[in-house]
Amino acid sequence: MKRYRVRTAAQSALIGDQQRTPIDAVELFGRRAPLRLEIGFGHGEFLSQMAAVHPDEDFIGVEHNDLRVTKTAHKSLKLDAHNVRLFNDEAHRFVRFRIAAQSLARCYILFPDPWPKPTHRRRRLMSRAFLHDLSRAMAPGGLLVFASDTHNYVFQVLSNLTTLPGLWTNRYQPAGYRFDIPTRFPTLFERYKKSEGCSIGYVLLERTANIPTEQLPWREPQRIIEDRS
Ligand SMILES: C[S@@+](CC[C@H](N)C(=O)[O-])C[C@H]1O[C@@H](n2cnc3c(N)ncnc32)[C@H](O)[C@@H]1O
Repeated sequence: MKRYRVRTAAQSALIGDQQRTPIDAVELFGRRAPLRLEIGFGHGEFLSQMAAVHPDEDFIGVEHNDLRVTKTAHKSLKLDAHNVRLFNDEAHRFVRFRIAAQSLARCYILFPDPWPKPTHRRRRLMSRAFLHDLSRAMAPGGLLVFASDTHNYVFQVLSNLTTLPGLWTNRYQPAGYRFDIPTRFPTLFERYKKSEGCSIGYVLLERTANIPTEQLPWREPQRIIEDRS
């Protein structure tokens, strides 16, 4: 990752600022097109490939690892995907403050940090408050794709959803999830986990037209670099 410590001008042009004001996607991309978001895009294979095969749509990504942001800009340029903008930010803050209401046609959350220990679960991204903020950001009919090899994380998402009645429809009925479905552009983490023999759980949700009422309390997350306790 050494080579990504310095950004080229072309890479910087794909990387957005770190303000708190909502992003104006029309201004950002210079056109009006369906908008997709990937959260925690890691090394960016999925985001750059999806953008390359959907030139008529716009893609934004948020990732808090700075080097991965530069690497993904590099990959997007290599694939000639100029319909990508990347943001180095914390995902919940980004969704809450930077995504305009009802603006997202799709959102991908693929293998978020699982925080597997029971005592660490409150650090997981897919909290009730986060899902509530994401409900505001998604357009009616918008799709949320979630994947994890940590099965109890899949069930935690489904459980949190039951506390937000009327905002989402689960497309994977009757169970509410599916395991090991084929994916067009598997992420780096997905390939790695599959090669280890793990089975992957997927959730697919569709946003209804109902407007979320309250805004749930939110605390600025602490950046946790490492925790071996
Ligand atoms: C397990 S990796 C998966 C990366 C990629 N989605 C994949 O499947 O290969 C999780 C990624 O999410 C990023 N991430 C975790 N929590 C985040 C947060 N709260 N805000 C932004 N990025 C986050 C991490 O830096 C990491 O790149």
